Amino acid sequence: MPVILAKYLKDYLNKEVTLQGWVRLKRSSGKIKFIELRDGTAFVQCVLVKGVSGLEALESFEGLTQESAIEVTGTVQHNPRNKTEELLVNTMKVYQIAEPFPITPKEHGVEYLMDRRHLWLRSRRQWAILRIRHEIIKACRCFFDERDFTLIDSPILGPSAAEGSSTLFETDYFGDPAYLTQSGQLYSEAAIAAFKKVYCFGPTFRAEKSKTRRHLTEFWMVEPEMAFVTLNEVMDLAEEFVSYIVDIVLANRKSELALLERDIEPLEKVKRPFVRMTYTEAVDKLHELGSDIKWGDDFGGDDETILTREYDRPIVVHRFPASFKAFYFELDKENPELALGVDILAPEGYGEILGGGERSADIEHLLKRIEEENLPADAYDWYLDLRRYGSVPHGGFGLGVERTVAWICGLHHVRETIPWPRMLSRIYP
Ligand code: 4AD
Ligand code: MG
Repeated sequence: MPVILAKYLKDYLNKEVTLQGWVRLKRSSGKIKFIELRDGTAFVQCVLVKGVSGLEALESFEGLTQESAIEVTGTVQHNPRNKTEELLVNTMKVYQIAEPFPITPKEHGVEYLMDRRHLWLRSRRQWAILRIRHEIIKACRCFFDERDFTLIDSPILGPSAAEGSSTLFETDYFGDPAYLTQSGQLYSEAAIAAFKKVYCFGPTFRAEKSKTRRHLTEFWMVEPEMAFVTLNEVMDLAEEFVSYIVDIVLANRKSELALLERDIEPLEKVKRPFVRMTYTEAVDKLHELGSDIKWGDDFGGDDETILTREYDRPIVVHRFPASFKAFYFELDKENPELALGVDILAPEGYGEILGGGERSADIEHLLKRIEEENLPADAYDWYLDLRRYGSVPHGGFGLGVERTVAWICGLHHVRETIPWPRMLSRIYP
């Protein structure tokens, strides 16, 4: 009998097939017994009927517990009541009878579940979230591959900071300090002179001491970088990218969104053009909305929440005070207090999912900023070479995968958006 994946069940109507998986639930009513089986690709109702199913299978049913591993063979039939296909079981092979499973259909606290993340991954909700995560990652790669970007992987271990020294994880590199990467951007800036348009996509690390619903210490970022572009082209690409991701998820992952009870109406409104405003305009708007933010302060999580609740599309904020931005930003010629940065804030209170901008071409400015930030100048010498040999206007951005997943799935916290979350107080399991 062919072993098939449960998601293809409907292609085998009235045929005999074998499914392999785990028991989610079981129940009996009179002569009929039901198993809800999950095989990792779908959830299937398996039906055992006295007088139809094999005797051994009927006996095995009695011993099954939640998460027992089994293989069932039977005939695929249509169930008109719940309008899906189900399996009428003939024979069953039991791989293991599971011990009492710590995660039952009743409510559990978040810390309890996080401690059992290795088991929690099996739940329907986590399954749906991580399938949407996969779809988003696939969409990121397709978007850049379709637009002539070359994937250039950046290193995870490096000699210096990309995004300021306060959130660096230090490690020992054969007697010298080395750091886990905060961003691949500086390496991508080198690669554009070889490939014109590149992207890197990998894990990044920030020793964030903040315990918020938006922060992880290890997260995934996709970072495109382009030669011969200025801030406007970076903003245009970022808008196109975010709307592309939403379109792909809506096209391919509707059933997972439904399982999460995600209201998709706000996602369907994510169409270009997005709302665009400068940082200064955003601060004025925030004052109208009751925030006490001062010009020159970075947005707090609450500011992003109240601002993004005002609009039904993502907000593209640009031109930030240079004082709180990283050393590498190009300054606005019309007002050198401003850095040519851009952030995209996701609607419904989600806030920043993407950050980037135009990079400085001015070697003197970069040296000054490196000194102001107390960064070790010799560790950046290679980076300054890029301004010595064929320097051009250039820029790019980074999109945080987990914040994007949280927004699209409608989750309150980023901890469920990555298989194995790493946070201030969590590195287990
Ligand atoms: O705004 P950030 O710090 O920008 C950079 O790292 C640039 N070097 C990117 C570039 O231009 N190539 O980070 C970019 C995005 C944020 O918008 C956010 O989505 C995500 O990365 N991010 C985090 N996600 C989860 N936890 C954290 N601690 C994050 N820090 C940043
Ligand atoms: Mg940022």
